[in-house]
Amino acid sequence: MTFKEQIQQGIPSQLPQPKLYETNINHAPKRKEILTEEEKKLALKNALRYFEPQFHAELIQEFRKELDEYGRIYMYRFRPDYEMKARPISEYPGKSEQAKAIMLMIQNNLDYAVAQHPHELITYGGNGGVFSNWAQYLLTMKYLSEMTDEQTLVMYSGHPMGLFPSHKDAPRVVVTNGMVIPNYSKPDDWEKFNALGVSQYGQMTAGSYMYIGPQGIVHGTTITVLNAFRKINKEPKGGLFVTSGLGGMSGAQPKAGNIAGCVTVCAEVNPKITKIRHDQKWVNEIHENLDELVERVKKAQENKESVSLAYLGNIVEVWEKFDQENIRIDIGSDQTSLHNPWAGGYYPAGQSFEESNIMMAENPELFKEKVQETLKRHAAAINKHTEKGTYFFDYGNAFLLEASRAGADVMSDHPTLGREFKFPSYVQDIMGPMCFDYGFGPFRWVCASGKPEDLQKTDEIACQVLEEMIKNSPEEIQQQMKDNIQWIKGAQENNLVVGSQARILYADAEGRMKIAEAFNKAIANGEIGAVVLGRDHHDVSGTDSPYRETSNIYDGSRFTADMAIHNVIGDSFRGATWVSIHNGGGVGWGEVINGGFGMLLDGSDDADRRLKSMLFWDVNNGISRRSWARNEGAVFAIKRAMEAEPNLKVTLPNFVDENLFD
Ligand SMILES: NC(=O)c1ccc[n+]([C@@H]2O[C@H](COP(=O)([O-])OP(=O)(O)OC[C@H]3O[C@@H](n4cnc5c(N)ncnc54)[C@H](O)[C@@H]3O)[C@@H](O)[C@H]2O)c1
Repeated sequence: MTFKEQIQQGIPSQLPQPKLYETNINHAPKRKEILTEEEKKLALKNALRYFEPQFHAELIQEFRKELDEYGRIYMYRFRPDYEMKARPISEYPGKSEQAKAIMLMIQNNLDYAVAQHPHELITYGGNGGVFSNWAQYLLTMKYLSEMTDEQTLVMYSGHPMGLFPSHKDAPRVVVTNGMVIPNYSKPDDWEKFNALGVSQYGQMTAGSYMYIGPQGIVHGTTITVLNAFRKINKEPKGGLFVTSGLGGMSGAQPKAGNIAGCVTVCAEVNPKITKIRHDQKWVNEIHENLDELVERVKKAQENKESVSLAYLGNIVEVWEKFDQENIRIDIGSDQTSLHNPWAGGYYPAGQSFEESNIMMAENPELFKEKVQETLKRHAAAINKHTEKGTYFFDYGNAFLLEASRAGADVMSDHPTLGREFKFPSYVQDIMGPMCFDYGFGPFRWVCASGKPEDLQKTDEIACQVLEEMIKNSPEEIQQQMKDNIQWIKGAQENNLVVGSQARILYADAEGRMKIAEAFNKAIANGEIGAVVLGRDHHDVSGTDSPYRETSNIYDGSRFTADMAIHNVIGDSFRGATWVSIHNGGGVGWGEVINGGFGMLLDGSDDADRRLKSMLFWDVNNGISRRSWARNEGAVFAIKRAMEAEPNLKVTLPNFVDENLFD
């Protein structure tokens, strides 16, 4: 069968041969044993409803084995034999170009070079699923291959509920992931509902088919490091950035430090991961001896080198040693996986990596104690540096949360918010006030032709648009514009494309609309093929998350999720090709609501109309909420938007004289 025929057949009418469990693939860990015996029967019934009854007797044994061995039913046997990767859009079967674009993006999220656990349909973050099992994948691709532009595919947490009649301006796909009744949103609820096959964790861009590999994270981290140095009024050249983690996202830190131009020291306990990042050239040198590291850092600071140094060992040792040796740290952060502290996210000091791995499985109580002791030491050492002038921020990894739970000295009293962390999060201090409040966020696009020349052409177009815009941009946003022009100029040589031909940059509403409009014209003129637009959910309007994306909202509304819900509803009736809304993503199930969109540009007048309507809303929704929360940058940005668009009328806050409260 051809690739097209395989897609069109959906779930095969005859059972394919069982598949071997391939050991050279990075597999998801065995999930927690959570279901009762009766619930396991329910999980099996749920899985078998995808198949004809004649196959049930054979499949039930196999699915039961998967459930017992892996904690989930992935239906490995149904994994397709064709290569999993984004193909040029013309290679997909179907009646709708929009649906074909979605197939391309789904396959990209499952590409072996892109996905973390491709056989378990996990794109990133350990549990960020595109689907929960292979039957869902096969059925979804079949629906997409047969739908028209008068239908909408409805996705319930990975399960394709079906095609429903709609109209050409409606989204082709509407995705929800992990949406549960709020009182049932504890981590174990996820384990249970996911094991039953009725809900899944979509992370952000995993379950919404918009992941573009490591490029997004390198760009975001570069912007953070650059702005952190601005925050302390210092040039990155000769400055020192100390942090930890060379894993999935954290591994971008040394690369970003190099692009920003500072000296980066990044500790990592796992030798394999350290070697991978070094081989990949994301970190320049590996050091295992603290005295040597100290000498090397002094030299690098003196010579103002752009260099990144991995320390193979515990981050706590670095903070403590640099304090004893009086090394001046300008910027400090941490990217161990403290959202997952007891199962390998954070390694205790004073014992080897292997000892820790054994202890966490065999003596979890003692392991927990060791983690908490280390967290206290970690915070104490950071405090010594901040007293000497280091600027420390939390990198959205729950460092401050877990340190506070361990009883470390990381809390202070805030006049209105009560007991608060004494260090800001990176969104609170950097991304929020410097980027999101002005509408700057992670806009991205994918060239649906799959041609590198198209990507190069779109880079040039985006750069021209931004260079034209900066001539008349107000002072307040000049720096953000400059950073992104510099990024897009260096984007080709940074060589960060993995999987689809994708690019990211930070732009505000005007920038996103102008770039998209220019792409659509270039497509109409035949200069490039179709383009898929999208963004990370970690953006101005897409995500309500009180300790991350909305952590710089101080009117008490940071625990509400109206913005993210409005965003996805608003995008859906303004022309998005697909929309998604998720519970969970980054900081955990129950801790965040986030959403996103995808939009196909095909050079048509319809695409031109849709992009203007939808992108304007997609950014200005969040700015209006940030403005109502009295964030000054957002008040400035929304007033500017109202001047540009007379149909926009936003309620503005009045500021109260603080003296009235005396
Ligand atoms: N980069 C971002 O923009 C961003 C944004 C939000 C949240 N985060 C958070 O950052 C964290 C890291 O993400 P990731 O994908 O890199 O996770 P990861 O688990 O792949 O990497 C973390 C690394 O830290 C190492 N580590 C653990 N304890 C250590 C210690 N004491 N000393 C030195 N190294 C240690 C681990 O070996 C691991 O390789 C997550 O909690 C994530 O949610 C990152």
